[in-house]
Amino acid sequence: MIQFVTIVVGLAWGDEGKGKIVHALAPEYDMVCRWNGGANAGHTIYIDGKKYKTHLVPSGIFSGKKCIIGPGCVVNVDKFLDEISYLRSAGFDTSLVKVSPKAHIITEAHVRYDNYYLKEKLGTTGNGIAPCYSDKMMRRGVQAKNALPKEFLWDGQLSGRILCEGAQSVWLDIDHGTYPYVTSSSTLPYSACSLGFNHKDIGRVIGVAKIYDTKSGVDPEFPDELWGQELFDRIIEEGQEFGTTTGRKRKVNWLFLPKLVKAINLCGCDRVIINKCDVLEKIGHYRLYDEGSLIEYGSLEEMKNYIQKVLFEKTKITDVVFSSSKDGI
Ligand code: IMP
Ligand code: MG
Repeated sequence: MIQFVTIVVGLAWGDEGKGKIVHALAPEYDMVCRWNGGANAGHTIYIDGKKYKTHLVPSGIFSGKKCIIGPGCVVNVDKFLDEISYLRSAGFDTSLVKVSPKAHIITEAHVRYDNYYLKEKLGTTGNGIAPCYSDKMMRRGVQAKNALPKEFLWDGQLSGRILCEGAQSVWLDIDHGTYPYVTSSSTLPYSACSLGFNHKDIGRVIGVAKIYDTKSGVDPEFPDELWGQELFDRIIEEGQEFGTTTGRKRKVNWLFLPKLVKAINLCGCDRVIINKCDVLEKIGHYRLYDEGSLIEYGSLEEMKNYIQKVLFEKTKITDVVFSSSKDGI
């Protein structure tokens, strides 16, 4: 029996630090589940000063929780098995990782097509994501039940306290993002129901944002102001804004607050965590876009107060937490 479901969702273009939040929450849950995407995601997690990277396996693995890769996900078998060996040799119990028999399999042809036709044009991660989802929709795809060793297949049971880990984020969503510069799955909380529960089971939605914006890959709508370029380079350095999956330098801009408000309202968040506040403190500049202009604050405190005021006014959240790179939450 499902006790309750919590969903962690990214409120921008990915890379907000969802993995860190899921890792901090996981001890209170029984299962940690991914509902979308594949190895295009990248989570970086620090445990006792050691850095771990995962692409497909939910961050619950680091807390010894049952980890589910749901029917809406896409799996590259070689990459999956490599990640399992990497986690096993690092001492984690990989028998906890299960994949839905209905998840779709990324083939070599998918990866080739993505790299040849889409990577440059759309800035994809080159993991074969779009061609795989395309074959799924054409109903000619290969499902995990026919491609993965039986030991990894999930029996479909959800029980206890369920934590869902979003991959990619609101502005990469196939329906709500800047099509075609999006990913090929649904990144919004409602699509977590594809794991096998219904919307009434969802207890809490936790949105994760960053105090500045970043984007990996192409997006003509990403506010791409050149003003403050030297500061953006410092944000990239201080915030280590390089893709976990591709190693690409991310594009940076000041937080575009109206988009954050929209993302929170689309997702129905109860609580929002705003990460990496320490990065702005390190560069000593506190700016965001709102009401059609760039606003500068004298201190981080002043900027936080403004953000909190706007979010309480324009969304239904009851709590906003400002977090630094090193904080658990
Ligand atoms: P794809 O998901 O590889 O097809 O890439 C489509 C777009 O989503 C590109 O702009 C990628 O940079 C972006 N993207 C996909 N996954 C992630 C992620 O986990 N973090 C940030 N950007 C991502
Ligand atoms: Mg990432």
